[in-house]
Amino acid sequence: MNFLPLTADFDRKGFDCGDPILNNWLVTTAGQHMRKKISVTYVQADEGSAEIKGFYALTIGQIDKLRLPERFQKPLPSQIPVFIFARMAVALNYQGKGFGQALILNAMERARFHSAQIGGAGILVDAKPDAAGFYRKFDFNAHPEFPLRLFHLF
Ligand SMILES: CC(C)(COP(=O)(O)OP(=O)(O)OC[C@H]1O[C@@H](n2cnc3c(N)ncnc32)[C@H](O)[C@@H]1OP(=O)(O)O)[C@@H](O)C(=O)NCCC(=O)NCCS
Repeated sequence: MNFLPLTADFDRKGFDCGDPILNNWLVTTAGQHMRKKISVTYVQADEGSAEIKGFYALTIGQIDKLRLPERFQKPLPSQIPVFIFARMAVALNYQGKGFGQALILNAMERARFHSAQIGGAGILVDAKPDAAGFYRKFDFNAHPEFPLRLFHLF
């Protein structure tokens, strides 16, 4: 399984994860955001195939430490630099078969690599309510008052 930067060679319009907003984001926005350095989208695809099985978009940002789970709050500065899962989805045909796990592990490895180069305390995601349990499996935790803002500390 390859994880490659999104290019026009991939069949973006053929991707369907069951969420029209995410599908549309991949078609209309992901490429623009790459050109403007807002985020970078990586697609999960077989060698030489245009089919997108899944994708994630990573970017950078910062979070107020008071929004982190309490056990992470000391002794950090008030604003914490983090990597951000901007988007993530697996195509309907491939959901429930480990593709999401492969995606998230690849994204975490990529973010950890860059964290070692330049800093970045962890990864943040604003999860959809249905997907929060998925992130919790990979040691993403939330402050009780912000249960969908999940954070994985490196
Ligand atoms: C959420 C999503 C990325 C998960 O991908 P997936 O390929 O179906 O997940 P996997 O098959 O790799 O599952 C890995 C593990 O997470 C669990 N899991 C998967 N989806 C889950 C969910 N929504 N809630 C809780 N656990 C979930 C699986 O049971 C599995 O656990 P196991 O190893 O104990 O069996 C996928 O369902 C999806 O794209 N959904 C639509 C778009 C979306 O919601 N994106 C997230 C936006 S925040």
